[in-house]
Amino acid sequence: MALEGRDLVSIFDLSDREIEAVFSLADEMSQHTRGRLHVANGRIMSTLFYEPSTRTRLSFEAAMLRLGGDVLSVADMGATSVAKGETIADTVRIVESYADVIVIRHPLEGSALVAADYASIPVINAGDGPHEHPTQTLLDLYTIRREKGKLRDVSVALVGDLRHGRTVHSLAFGLARFGAKVTCVGPPGLEMPPHLLARLEKEFGCVPAQFHSLSDIVTNAEMVKRRPGRQRALAAEVVSLFDAIYVTRVQKERFDSTQAYDAARNSYAITEELIKRALPDTLIMHPLPRVDELAYDVDRDPRAAYFRQAAYGVPVRMALVSMLLGLRSTKVGRARKGEYRPKSRHEVDFRKYADLLCPNARCVTNHESYLSPRFNFTDYAPGMVACAYCDHEVAAPKGMTSG
Ligand code: CP
Repeated sequence: MALEGRDLVSIFDLSDREIEAVFSLADEMSQHTRGRLHVANGRIMSTLFYEPSTRTRLSFEAAMLRLGGDVLSVADMGATSVAKGETIADTVRIVESYADVIVIRHPLEGSALVAADYASIPVINAGDGPHEHPTQTLLDLYTIRREKGKLRDVSVALVGDLRHGRTVHSLAFGLARFGAKVTCVGPPGLEMPPHLLARLEKEFGCVPAQFHSLSDIVTNAEMVKRRPGRQRALAAEVVSLFDAIYVTRVQKERFDSTQAYDAARNSYAITEELIKRALPDTLIMHPLPRVDELAYDVDRDPRAAYFRQAAYGVPVRMALVSMLLGLRSTKVGRARKGEYRPKSRHEVDFRKYADLLCPNARCVTNHESYLSPRFNFTDYAPGMVACAYCDHEVAAPKGMTSG
């Protein structure tokens, strides 16, 4: 399936082959991150950011400008008619007549899907609340591929606020699809949500080892090395540490109270002292911005990859935008046997139930009154259905059957 004209709402919208095709083109685009190609002459990108951003908005805009296109940017949605109550659906139906592609960031989960449903031009999700951030996942995977020379079967520790961090939610699935061994290191209360763990296991056979702190793993690994007879099972998980340690900040804006945030902050930190004990070629990655969880003295270590990671955002987004706008005809091979293949949204048999509401208070369906909740059956949660917008689960109504 060609990428031209498609949306990127979720990392599940791309097949593995399509991800690899984006990366091949990104390799080529890396030669053109200065100056200007003229492949997007006359094309316009609109960036609608309802939440703050440095990297994502500016790197999308840099990508479009480097391709030779133009940008219509809204960095402060409060200065638009959103302040008068305009909905996502109406906003994107206006913007589609001014632009050729929309990049949207919004605090509500499922908001990018709403934009994609209502706009007739490609929509790219630049982060929908704590739900997903698929283009960050593309550049994260690209970083690993570039710096480790491979994408398949890597071992990655996801460290930090795994409950609220949208980057790690998308990345866990991106990694699992390429056969990665994933380790989750979330402080108590900030662990990876159970419904994501269930989906990782059922759909991709990925069962992350779980720890509450990175020093727990490092300490255990050292103990195991000194006393090889002990904790063999744990050793199997930790001795092969790690092609990359991917750190995220505590997501202050997702907490219900300052007290809850204060209790969580400072519950982990990556320091120079700690990474001395990791492998000599382990990448230290972070989507940025950082707060307290990543010491500045780590920056001088050659394993600190996070500024290079942010820089890869430009060629990766140049490649993605080129493909969605059909500026480049790029060959994408057929899915290999057993490989993940996305369904188009028209193939999905969504169920609507007038009385069934999404239980997630941050789901867009609980905020934009023109939307009807929609649900999918899942393979990973028997007896439950998942909200088509935010993936949160709810018990299937009595008598509801799939198919
Ligand atoms: N990594 C990332 O999404 O950064 P911004 O919030 O600055 O866009």
